[in-house]
Amino acid sequence: MRMRRKRHLEERLAACSDLLLARGRPCLNLKEAAEQYRALLDYRQVFGNSAPVRLEIGCGCGGFVLEMAKRNPQVNFLAVEVCSNVIVSAMEQARKEKVSNVRFLNIAAEILPCYLPQESIDTIYLNFSTPLPEQSREKQRLTSSRFLQIDRALLQGGGRIEQKTDSAEFFDYSLTKFVENGFEVCEITRDLHGSPYAAENIVTEYERIFLGRGLPIFRAVAIKRGKERRVE
Ligand SMILES: C[S@@+](CC[C@H](N)C(=O)[O-])C[C@H]1O[C@@H](n2cnc3c(N)ncnc32)[C@H](O)[C@@H]1O
Repeated sequence: MRMRRKRHLEERLAACSDLLLARGRPCLNLKEAAEQYRALLDYRQVFGNSAPVRLEIGCGCGGFVLEMAKRNPQVNFLAVEVCSNVIVSAMEQARKEKVSNVRFLNIAAEILPCYLPQESIDTIYLNFSTPLPEQSREKQRLTSSRFLQIDRALLQGGGRIEQKTDSAEFFDYSLTKFVENGFEVCEITRDLHGSPYAAENIVTEYERIFLGRGLPIFRAVAIKRGKERRVE
């Protein structure tokens, strides 16, 4: 079902323009954009410091990244979300709560290499990415090889991806893809809320819904291995 466009969306986005670093260019196809367009961010200029930068892909309404940013004031956060209708709520909340160490990109993750320098990211969070079980949509899954190669290029050596999902099939698929794409997988749990990792966990908007339905939450961490491994 299509979400109704929020009222006064453009005005509301404009009112948050100081927090919004990029807005999708209705341009070129994504592959061309990634190859031809470059507007690399200077984090020192953006945040006014050289603290480590973490990235959430598919931040939705921003509950997770805002709480993470408040708990970790010594870290900078970027939140990417393709849907303007939801990222606007995240930005408005950041403004309301005066969270100063988070900025937003309203773009598809496919074109992150246009904006983020290589090997500049410390951690990537993938929270409840859409599982897209249809085989025909495999390339759109955020843990497909296509995306993991983008993530690999953005992550510093030893950098990590932290994934949470409610889908057992998507989780198993992701574990395989992490290994195929040169990541070492650890901290695997098929019941996050019954595990030691629950203590530090920040519950996202979707996670709250799935918990309400009594579903188990799957979590894993994938660490970028030092040496490049080519995956055919
Ligand atoms: C199921 S929601 C999860 C939202 C939030 N992370 C949470 O846990 O509550 C997935 C979000 O990812 C966004 N998304 C999906 N594909 C994306 C892509 N290629 N680039 C950026 N955002 C994407 C969707 O628009 C949606 O808001």
